[in-house]
Order: sequence, then structure tokens, then C-alpha cells
Amino acid sequence: MSLSERGRVLDRSDYAELARIHSSCIDLGFLSSLGHGFLSLLYEAIDADDNSHLILEKKEGSVIGFVAGGRGMKSIYRKLLIRLPRLLIALFPALLNPRKLSKIIELLCFAKKQKPVSSSSEAELFSIAVIDSARGSGLAQKLYNALGERFFRDGESAFCMVVGENLSQAHRFYNKMGAVPFAQVSVHKGQSSTLYRQDLPIA
Ligand SMILES: CC(C)(COP(=O)(O)OP(=O)(O)OC[C@H]1O[C@@H](n2cnc3c(N)ncnc32)[C@H](O)[C@@H]1OP(=O)(O)O)[C@@H](O)C(=O)NCCC(=O)NCCS
Repeated sequence: MSLSERGRVLDRSDYAELARIHSSCIDLGFLSSLGHGFLSLLYEAIDADDNSHLILEKKEGSVIGFVAGGRGMKSIYRKLLIRLPRLLIALFPALLNPRKLSKIIELLCFAKKQKPVSSSSEAELFSIAVIDSARGSGLAQKLYNALGERFFRDGESAFCMVVGENLSQAHRFYNKMGAVPFAQVSVHKGQSSTLYRQDLPIA
């Protein structure tokens, strides 16, 4: 097994696989409720964005784990807007649902106001997931370290991640990796999340 090099060698079937893994592993997250079409487009946009990194691990041709991170969502949203017709089709059911629509707006507002982890860094881990059968093998640790190395090479001294209270495996994993909780934030009304900071290089 080896980590893939920086994206753009990925194709739409890879993005669809990432979407499937995201929605089955991070099923309690709001993004999963926006559907596979949207998630697939989101990972395509992350891969196309020069400020972001998408690192995945394949075994026998199938994705078994991935990590995505970058410096803010603005440039990713721009990449999504370039794909507007596909974006509208993917989001069409959610746009007709007032509850989901208001959560999308909350998400956009949060991305705009989110405080960077230091005055010089906006680096953030967006998502990490490993399929059930590949867990407990150190793969998540390898992916996390690989993202940390990319950020460090980019000149970052730290990165952050926002973790919903209900994602207990994720809290355990980030604590084990040495990330430090430093703030409580609310991405969606009435739902609390912890903001973690990981200093670089990772010890
Ligand atoms: C969070 C998540 C990615 C962590 O995956 P994981 O498989 O538990 O984590 P690791 O690959 O680092 O596994 C580490 C475990 O494997 C064991 N291990 C076995 N071989 C190992 C090796 N060669 N190197 C390191 N660890 C190894 C370790 O002892 C460790 O066990 P511990 O946690 O009891 O200390 C996974 O639980 C997941 O996909 N969760 C759902 C998605 C999610 O919540 N994502 C975060 C929100 S974006």
C-alpha cells in the first residue's frame, strides 16, 4: 500500500468512492445528508484546489481511507461554483428543504468567520475516514501524518479541525495524535463542536 501523490490523477469514480466512504463513516455529519452527488463534487473541488490536499490510500484498486485538508473553504467554494450546473443538480433536493437550506447557510457563514489557529495559519483538516475493515492498522495515523507533512512543507506551523460532539472515535483519534482542544464552537444552531489544534511538525 502506498499513499497517492497529489491529486488530479483521480477520476470521477474515485470521487464517488470518497463520497460513499464519507457518508458511511461520517454518517452523523451534516454534509452526508446532502447526498453522494454533492460529496463527490466537493472532493473533486478539493482535489482541484491548489490550497488543498487530498491524500488517499487504495488497496487492490479500491479506496480504503483518505484525508482532506486545506487553507480555508473560499477557494474550494470557487471551484464548486465553476461546476455550477452539476452543483445545482446535486443540491436540488436540499435547496427545496428549508431546514437543510438554513444549515447550508450556517455552514457558509461559519467558514467565513472561523478564526485561524494562529495569526499566520488557516490550515485545517476537513475530513479523515478509514473503512471499517482497515481500522486499527495505523492507516489513519499515516494519513494524518502525511497531511501534517504537506502543511509543514507549505510553511504552516499548525493546523486545526472542527469535531462534532457526537464523533467519539474522532475525538479519541485526535487526542491520541497529540491535537489539543482549544475552543468550543457552534457550526449549526444548538450543536456544539470542539476546535482542535495540531502543532507542526507532528512529534
Ligand atoms: C477516526 C478514524 C479515521 C481513526 O481510524 P483508526 O483505524 O481507529 O486509527 P489508526 O489507523 O490510527 O489506528 C490506530 C490503532 O491501530 C493500532 N495499530 C495497529 N498497527 C499499527 C501501526 N502499524 N501503526 C500505528 N497504529 C497501529 C494502534 O494500536 C491504534 O490502537 P489504539 O487506538 O487503541 O491506540 C476512524 O475511526 C474513522 O474512520 N472514523 C469515522 C470517520 C470520522 O469520524 N472521521 C473524523 C471526522 S472528520
